[in-house]
Amino acid sequence: MRILFIGDIFGRPGRTIVRERLSGMVKTHRIDLVIANGENAAAGFGITGPLAEELFDLGIEVLTTGNHVWDKREIIDYLQMADGNPHSPARRLLRPANFPQNLPGWGVYEGQKNGAGYAVVNLQGRVFMGSSDDPFRYADRLLEQIKSKIVFVDFHAEATSEKIAFGWYLDGRVTAVVGTHTHIPTADETILSKGTAYITDVGMTGPYDSVIGVKKELVVEKFLNGMPARFEPASGDVRLCAVLVQCDDATGKATRIERLMIK
Ligand SMILES: [Fe+2]
Ligand SMILES: [Fe+2]
Repeated sequence: MRILFIGDIFGRPGRTIVRERLSGMVKTHRIDLVIANGENAAAGFGITGPLAEELFDLGIEVLTTGNHVWDKREIIDYLQMADGNPHSPARRLLRPANFPQNLPGWGVYEGQKNGAGYAVVNLQGRVFMGSSDDPFRYADRLLEQIKSKIVFVDFHAEATSEKIAFGWYLDGRVTAVVGTHTHIPTADETILSKGTAYITDVGMTGPYDSVIGVKKELVVEKFLNGMPARFEPASGDVRLCAVLVQCDDATGKATRIERLMIK
């Protein structure tokens, strides 16, 4: 299976480049399955049901999120729409699995694509992040329940050390561990020694003439004065950042990871 994972889609600029470029990438790279992080799809802050469905309609099969998942409150009602249907669009929008269990939504999705079963897992780190359960031990528990050989993990975290440690912790037990959240792509894509594809951060899909997606003047001003500021999405230098992971369907081991950046 050839899987494309698109990094944090930021606001309208991010959604637009996905609409313009995704179908071409799927054909060129013979992609079987597209996964994307959509936590910043709504003007940089959160995601709504209609925006999730807009992204699903472009060919994305599963959306992951992270700390911004609740920024648009209506997403709670949308996630609750998934009750009973294991493959509805709302069920394919994930929030980190290691959030408190009473919260709406799910952190794992298991589906089928081109004859192969796969699982997508969304977990969040704890270093310089809001509180959540230990993602390491939480991953152990999830892997006991997951039936699919192909397991793709979006680890939404800030610290490179936590992300790399998490990659090594799951090496040989999952197909891929890809980092999201920092919005800056890292050049360390690799296949770890026991067969897990790894990258510390896939990078944002959105405007790079910015500070991680936000108009740069507003963020510089905030660093200078510390006053509350309304952050607005930037618009220039839009890029689509993704990784292509190829794996063996029978074993779930990764055979290749390639970093992609399209302008
Ligand atoms: Fe993000
Ligand atoms: Fe984030």
